Amino acid sequence: MKSVAFISEKGGVGKSTTVLNVAAAMAGKGLKVLVLDTDPQANATYVLLRGEKPRRPTIHEVLVGQAAAIHAIVPTALPGVDILPAATDLADANVTLAGEMGRERRLRVAMAGAEAAYDYVLVDTAPTRSLLTTNVLNFVEEVLVPIVPGLFGVLGLGQLQADVAAVRRFLDNKALRLGGVFLTMTERHNVAQDVEEQLRRLFGDLVFRTKIPRSVKLEEAHSRHESVLSYAPKSVGASAYLALTEEILDDGREAKRNGDPGGNPSAHDAA
Ligand SMILES: Nc1ncnc2c1ncn2[C@@H]1O[C@H](COP(=O)(O)OP(=O)(O)OP(=O)(O)O)[C@@H](O)[C@H]1O
Ligand SMILES: [Mg+2]
Repeated sequence: MKSVAFISEKGGVGKSTTVLNVAAAMAGKGLKVLVLDTDPQANATYVLLRGEKPRRPTIHEVLVGQAAAIHAIVPTALPGVDILPAATDLADANVTLAGEMGRERRLRVAMAGAEAAYDYVLVDTAPTRSLLTTNVLNFVEEVLVPIVPGLFGVLGLGQLQADVAAVRRFLDNKALRLGGVFLTMTERHNVAQDVEEQLRRLFGDLVFRTKIPRSVKLEEAHSRHESVLSYAPKSVGASAYLALTEEILDDGREAKRNGDPGGNPSAHDAA
């Protein structure tokens, strides 16, 4: 089992879109995928359960210790993809857990055993730094960051890198790493090129080769509760997400990073 979380404090940068389409691409290759929805907005849940309200228990009951993860995981509209769904009351978990024992370890403890049935666990996250995100960081193997080109595209990455380092130092997940950054919603203009150059300067080999272009097909697919791979298989969005998935699955990409598990050390105070 491998696990990856898509994290950015910026809202609307394509985290949920990436989780959905990478899940579909992985399942298309015959991999068994589990999506963890840790965002109270529950966007991934909404698309994958075709707009149906998730029945209880959800990830909230799992985190507060009222249900086992295997009792909350359900199949989705995508063959080969299961989900541990979220509902809007997940926001309350930040408050409920704050005074509880093992508050930063709840997801890690809950997933022990449940994850074994899957080749890949993909975690969607909220655009807020919270106890929920800390739980995610203390569980996954790697963090991938979508970045929309623009003036403030890379701001906030410094905080995320500090959080990754703090989890390795103070919590259980000693092998957690920033696995990469990739550009989303790119358009053909100079800002995108500037941001890409800046990213490569800061993050070197951590920058994915694949860029996800802005494509209306991606949005249309969501509103039909589909992945772009089934909705518009010949679109630029579909081929970009297939390529991104290949890169995520490529074990070789790790070796290209000079053997440094935390990524380029010179980038650590970069943003
Ligand atoms: N490459 C793209 N081209 C066009 N639209 C896109 C693309 N990627 C995502 N979108 C659309 O942009 C909006 C935001 O994307 P998404 O919900 O995936 O971002 P997010 O980072 O998960 O947001 P949040 O932080 O609120 O959870 C959605 O309406 C989505 O359909
Ligand atoms: Mg989202």
